[in-house]
Amino acid sequence: MPLSPDRNLRLAPSLLSADFSDLGSAVRRAEEGGAAAFHLDVMDGHFVPNLSFGPALVAAVRRHTRLPLDIHLMVEHPERFLDPFRRAGGDRLTFHLEAASDPAGLARSIRALGMEAAVAVRPETPVARVEPWLPELDAILVMTVHPGFSGQLFLPECLDKIAEARALSDRAGGRVDIGVDGGVTSETGRRAARAGGTFFVCGNAAFEGGAIEANLARLREAIRQGAEDRHAVP
Ligand code: DX5
Ligand code: ZN
Repeated sequence: MPLSPDRNLRLAPSLLSADFSDLGSAVRRAEEGGAAAFHLDVMDGHFVPNLSFGPALVAAVRRHTRLPLDIHLMVEHPERFLDPFRRAGGDRLTFHLEAASDPAGLARSIRALGMEAAVAVRPETPVARVEPWLPELDAILVMTVHPGFSGQLFLPECLDKIAEARALSDRAGGRVDIGVDGGVTSETGRRAARAGGTFFVCGNAAFEGGAIEANLARLREAIRQGAEDRHAVP
C-alpha cells in the first residue's frame, strides 16, 4: 500500500520506541490511535553508532498490520538491502543520501521493485542536494536529530530545512512527501507542521507511558494546529 503524499498530515510511530516483547499489541493500539503508517529504524552499527533490527522483525510487524511500512535504512551500502526489505513487506524504503553512491539509481531500483523511494538527510546535510533527483523520489525525510537513537531532542535549526524541502516539493508540483524524523513532540511537531512537514515520525512521544492512543491524539491535534498556523500566515 503506498504511503501516498496526499498532503494529509500523517503520523508514523517509530517502533524503535515500542515494547519489543509485545510488538503486536503496540502495533494494534497505534493503529487504533490513528497511525497512518509505521516507521522502522534499521541501524547497522556503521552508518550510525547503534544496532537495531533487520528484515525478520519487519516481516513480523507485517503480519500484524496492513498499514504501510516505511523502512528507514540507516546503513552503509543500502543497495544491498532492497530486496530483503521488499520481501519482508516494506512499502517505502528510505535511504540516506550520505550513504548512497548513486542516489538516482538507488531510487529507481526501489521503485522498480514496486516500493516508494525516499531519501533521508542528516542534520548537517543541505537539503538542496536532493533537488537533482526529485523526479525519482516519493519523499524526503528531514532528520531533526542526529540519527542513531530515539528519545533525543529536536534540533530547531532543522526547521528551515523542512521549509526548504517543502518549497522544493511545491516547485515540483507538491508530489513529494516531506517527512520529519527525530524528537517530534506536540510542541516540535506543531512547529514542524508550520514549516511544511507532511509526515511525522514519532517514537518516544508515541509510546511514552504506554498511553499510545492518547499520545497519538495529542500529537495529531498539535500537528493539525501547526498546519493551520501555516495557512494563516499571509
Ligand atoms: C533516529 C530514528 C528515529 C527515532 C525517532 O535515529 O531515525 O526514527 O527512532 O524517535 P524519537 O521520536 O523518540 O526521536
Ligand atoms: Zn527514523
